Amino acid sequence: MADHAILAGKRVLLVIAGGIAAYKSLELIRRLRERGVTVRAVLTEAGARFVTPLSVQALTEDTVYRDLWSLTDESEMGHIRLSREADLLVVAPATANLLARMAAGMADDLAATVLLATDKPVLVAPAMNVRMWQHAATQANMALLESRGVRRIGPNDGVMACNEYGPGRMAEPMEIVEAIAGVFAAESHRPLAGRRAIVTSGPTHEPIDPVRYIANRSSGKQGHAIAAALAALGAEVTLVSGPTRLPDPAGCRVAHIETAREMLAACEAALPADIAVCAAAVADWRVDGAGDRKLKKDGGAPPALALTENPDILATLSRPGERRPALVVGFAAETGDVLAYATAKRARKGCDWIVANDVSPGTGTFGGSDNTVHLIRADGVESWPTMPKDAVATRLAEAVAEYFTGK
Ligand code: CTP
Repeated sequence: MADHAILAGKRVLLVIAGGIAAYKSLELIRRLRERGVTVRAVLTEAGARFVTPLSVQALTEDTVYRDLWSLTDESEMGHIRLSREADLLVVAPATANLLARMAAGMADDLAATVLLATDKPVLVAPAMNVRMWQHAATQANMALLESRGVRRIGPNDGVMACNEYGPGRMAEPMEIVEAIAGVFAAESHRPLAGRRAIVTSGPTHEPIDPVRYIANRSSGKQGHAIAAALAALGAEVTLVSGPTRLPDPAGCRVAHIETAREMLAACEAALPADIAVCAAAVADWRVDGAGDRKLKKDGGAPPALALTENPDILATLSRPGERRPALVVGFAAETGDVLAYATAKRARKGCDWIVANDVSPGTGTFGGSDNTVHLIRADGVESWPTMPKDAVATRLAEAVAEYFTGK
């Protein structure tokens, strides 16, 4: 449980959208104010059909902001000032409609405009009918918002006002208070502030000719999650990514590349750095002499592809020298004898740590959401339980932070 003392003196801008759960937002205002939080509220037009502006005003002891076009609201408190004078924006309830408008970057009412204009953290508490929540459109909108750094609490499972059962109920007010305290705690925990990190992620594509290439099945999920986790701890992160289906993670500078040689060049351009994490599945070989003419079937024997070895980015970054990052971390994807191979790989590449995992068929690691890893350092091996790739990333980022802070 996060320490609620962190809440005292904080300023929350609460956006109340139009859902039956809006009544719980009144309770949320009370719980926040009891803990010393100043709450300002923006009520959407639909929101005002579920709770009265008067109730919101009485509980916040402030004006209720409703209209993008109101001259008085605008002259007294423009939408820019509304977001600037908050430490956190909370959307509760976050309806399917408002999430869609946020994802699309619309600014068609005061709530959407404030959410678009802000550079403050945003926490959403979705509330809607089960099918609306499970709809591919809502799920895609939510995933996009989360990839941009929007935090989410809930929705919970339960019986809803429409008598259906499933996920869609807004989180309870105290759960939202807890999540808000968690956001402030995370914001103040930035042990990697001032450190620069390079993370490689995804596959590389090595051209055979202008239309064909050699690639591999790497999804980039683990590398992208590591970049986001390092950024969340305050590091200034350059993510060098091969082609993936993933959105750019929040808070990182991203260099999009295709080949191993481009990946190396982008990494070298991002130096100097304190930390390098090589999570990319770099193609070991490229096609020698891939030209700019498409290979044609000419009725004869299939073409023989000659391969040349690609540069080893991890080994290059690990090479001793002035520009070597203080901490270089590599990955070892093995199929059997994981610890022995990975320990040998650590020595061969010259890196400081190796994150080793078993990618045998059936483990579901490659492309999957979970990962079972061992962290191999000079002083021994730490085996972590199977967990989501996001959690592996957070734990690795914490280990990196401990390395630098000595804790
Ligand atoms: N790596 C790299 N550049 C390459 C090849 C690999 O930076 N050209 C990095 C990967 O990002 C990863 C580690 O090196 O951190 C993996 O080492 P590698 O020798 O490629 O391991 P495997 O792919 O498992 O290959 P093998 O077991 O055949 O050695």
